[in-house]
Amino acid sequence: MSDPVIRVSHLKKSFGQQEVLHDIDFSIQKGEVVSIIGSSGSGKSTLLRCINLLEIPDSGSITFHGKEILSRDMNKQDYRSKVGMVFQNFNLFANKNVLDNCVLGQRKVLKRSKEEAVDIAKKHLERVGLSDFLNKPSTKLSGGQKQRVAIARALSMDPEVLLFDEPTSALDPEMVGEVLEVIKDLAKTGLTMIVVTHEMQFAKDVSDRVIFMDQGVIAEEGTPDEVFNHPKNARTRQFLSRFMNRDEESAEAEADEEKTAVAE
Ligand SMILES: Nc1ncnc2c1ncn2[C@@H]1O[C@H](COP(=O)(O)OP(=O)(O)O)[C@@H](O)[C@H]1O
Ligand SMILES: [Mg+2]
Repeated sequence: MSDPVIRVSHLKKSFGQQEVLHDIDFSIQKGEVVSIIGSSGSGKSTLLRCINLLEIPDSGSITFHGKEILSRDMNKQDYRSKVGMVFQNFNLFANKNVLDNCVLGQRKVLKRSKEEAVDIAKKHLERVGLSDFLNKPSTKLSGGQKQRVAIARALSMDPEVLLFDEPTSALDPEMVGEVLEVIKDLAKTGLTMIVVTHEMQFAKDVSDRVIFMDQGVIAEEGTPDEVFNHPKNARTRQFLSRFMNRDEESAEAEADEEKTAVAE
């Protein structure tokens, strides 16, 4: 196997007395799509935030193409432009329109000319289906549109890796699909991606590898078939069965609704 794009070794992070990440080891190869699943509080966001340098780990190392990102001579802004992040709550510039949201970082960090930055932003906004919204204030968008702007903004920086932290968790259910479609398309382009998600079917469909995190450790990892269909760890089985039960419950509820509708 070739050298990984990102390698995390012996990563530890505490908040006060609470150790949130215990000795995390993992790496991602170029072009790989890795999903991270796990209960709320298991440390998924903290791991992504460490990789994006939004949190500084207590110990361990994170390398990008073999170079330690925590070292003093690493240009943090440059690194963040190569390893982009899409957040649950979009984090758009509220006082800017759609186009400016996608232009700003390119101008500031990549020092692109206005013309070039606008061209690139438009290309990515078209890709996420928002060409007709360039001048719209970001506050006037639906959640699904906001998240698609956030994705176009991240892509406008020409990242080598994109990190997604529950990109559909803050959305109304009817908007989840449009955002997942965009991410699925990206996965097909060969972009290296780490996606924290509670969308199990999506994780099954797009991932090369699935990581199950539990209480600050990687409890299990493997192909989607291994993790979803043949989980080895009891905690993984427990976690997945909660989701399966939820699916069954909603399927039962739907079936009941159908029966009622027929009876009426
Ligand atoms: N900035 C912070 N300060 C204190 N505790 C935090 C902070 N961020 C996360 N935590 C705690 O760390 C644990 C893991 O959180 P998080 O990484 O957000 O988990 P997940 O994304 O899997 O839900 C939780 O117990 C959370 O309360
Ligand atoms: Mg989280």
